Amino acid sequence: MNKNILFLSPNAKLTLEKRYLKRNVLGKIIESPEDMFRRVAKNIASVDLIYNKKADIVSMEEEFYHLMTSLQFLPNSPALMNAGRHLQQLLACFVLPVEDSIEGIFDTVKQAALIHKSGGGTGFSFSRIRPKNDIVSASCGMASGPVSFMKVFNEATEAINQGGFRRGANMAALNVNHPDIFDFIHAKNTEGVLTNFNISVGITNAFMEAVENDAPFPLINPRTKLVVKTIRAKVLFQEIVQSAWKNGEPGVLFIDAINAANPTPLLGSIEGTNPCGEQPLLPYEACVLGSVNVSQMTTYKNDHYEMNWHTLEKTIHLAVHFLDNVIDATKHPLPQIEVLTKGNRKIGLGIMGFADLLIKLNIPYNSEEAMRFTDKLLRFFSGKANEASERLASERGMFPNYEKSIYARQNGPKYRNATRTTIAPTGTISIIANCSSGIEPLFAIAYTRNVLVEGGLPEIHPFFENVAKKRGLYTDKLLAEVKREGSIQNIAYIPDDIKRIFTTARDISPEYHVKIQSICQKYIDNAVSKTINFPKESTAEDVEKVFLLAYRSGCKGITIYRDKSRMSQALSFECAC
Ligand code: CDP
Repeated sequence: MNKNILFLSPNAKLTLEKRYLKRNVLGKIIESPEDMFRRVAKNIASVDLIYNKKADIVSMEEEFYHLMTSLQFLPNSPALMNAGRHLQQLLACFVLPVEDSIEGIFDTVKQAALIHKSGGGTGFSFSRIRPKNDIVSASCGMASGPVSFMKVFNEATEAINQGGFRRGANMAALNVNHPDIFDFIHAKNTEGVLTNFNISVGITNAFMEAVENDAPFPLINPRTKLVVKTIRAKVLFQEIVQSAWKNGEPGVLFIDAINAANPTPLLGSIEGTNPCGEQPLLPYEACVLGSVNVSQMTTYKNDHYEMNWHTLEKTIHLAVHFLDNVIDATKHPLPQIEVLTKGNRKIGLGIMGFADLLIKLNIPYNSEEAMRFTDKLLRFFSGKANEASERLASERGMFPNYEKSIYARQNGPKYRNATRTTIAPTGTISIIANCSSGIEPLFAIAYTRNVLVEGGLPEIHPFFENVAKKRGLYTDKLLAEVKREGSIQNIAYIPDDIKRIFTTARDISPEYHVKIQSICQKYIDNAVSKTINFPKESTAEDVEKVFLLAYRSGCKGITIYRDKSRMSQALSFECAC
């Protein structure tokens, strides 16, 4: 078989046609999916010449082309859309500072607009902005507070619409001790407002200790550094929980856990993340993501699938090389971003197709066996990503800020990249690779995808279709039933061994969702994109317990979604991709 033949699902083809393939001035598509992967492979391989004048970039291009067309690895969407084209902005994640001045705020609005135009997503902390009704000395007026400025960012994003590539996405973080925290928590309670934002409260260990001890907690004006009010930490925590229970927002960032893993604390502390929360970054820092489709890392032997660790290792090594090249191939949208991004050279390699892999290996997602397997997989994964980054360092040098990093201070490993691993949502690239997204369980066994075409595209999970056909269960009636329910758990005539393996996000208890997230987090340098699904009838107390579990089990944040708690329920992702 020709190893470079590309097999795309109808949904993948449609996704590429709608947003990724090159068009002429008349809007006509002028490249095939193969051409797109060729364009990207060529562009990224050519970077090798910067480090070695004699590099064999033709072979490298072939390797990168195969890496992507085999759907074993895909870089984040901007790299697929823009590599080898005029824009050449290849990174998905940015964090920008927001200063407490009108000039500063509107400078950031402009910078965010430039980033959205090029296909990236932006995160901000609004914690430096003085609270509502605070003094504005220039006008002797009263300040309008962080939430009102978030609306300005939201409208700017709406207008930009990323040059038609994809909807702009933002993350707003606010420290839990900001006086406007209550307004922030409720900023998205009404559907249809701040639609281009995800919001997260930056929670500190001091706050969580105050919650656990039912102690008072001070709210501090960031301008004066004075305490403006003291509240009961527990009341504030319950308000966060209640709002998340109501419609999924705010999420929470455990900001101390995030900073404990900051590889370059001498360069500043981390106050925000990219839009979906998986990539904490310093202000003016950006990062490229890419994901290995682990469902492809198997071998079929004696009538069953086994993990192919050798292929996984090779794929990780090549993917790290690819992502390191992306940093040099990118046309950075701002000079400050270029300096920090090239100084730290953070990359975020992660996985997708995890739920599909478990199905192939016959491991139920919500089982102790899955926990053990996840531990083994992620330990291996991060170990190999680190190894690849060390190998690159020996050829190309450590990241330029290495001497200011925790690795130098601890006399640690010599990395090419300040971080190596991140688990992304893979909202769009998992459609292209035709696999389950990130580390999420299946969204549904069969459903109609409500994006891209009117009326939607019907999808049935291919592994379920195979099993159902093999066992003589597959009928139109079954398909209709599964499509209606999403899940197969209440279909009486489906045998238990099939039900155990084919679970959906809603069939899995929130505790198991968190367990998987925290095991992954143990090995991942950056953060883990994960939605913790709750059944519709869960209570705010159920949500509170899981927030505490996430905090105690070392997660860097938590995002929950209670079934049917929002009127418009896009597939499973926060960002409309
Ligand atoms: O699958 P794809 O590479 O398109 O993206 P993802 O893994 O779903 O999202 C990764 C990151 O891309 C997000 O956290 C954002 O930083 C960014 N993104 C964005 O800016 N706009 C979107 N509509 C979707 C994602």
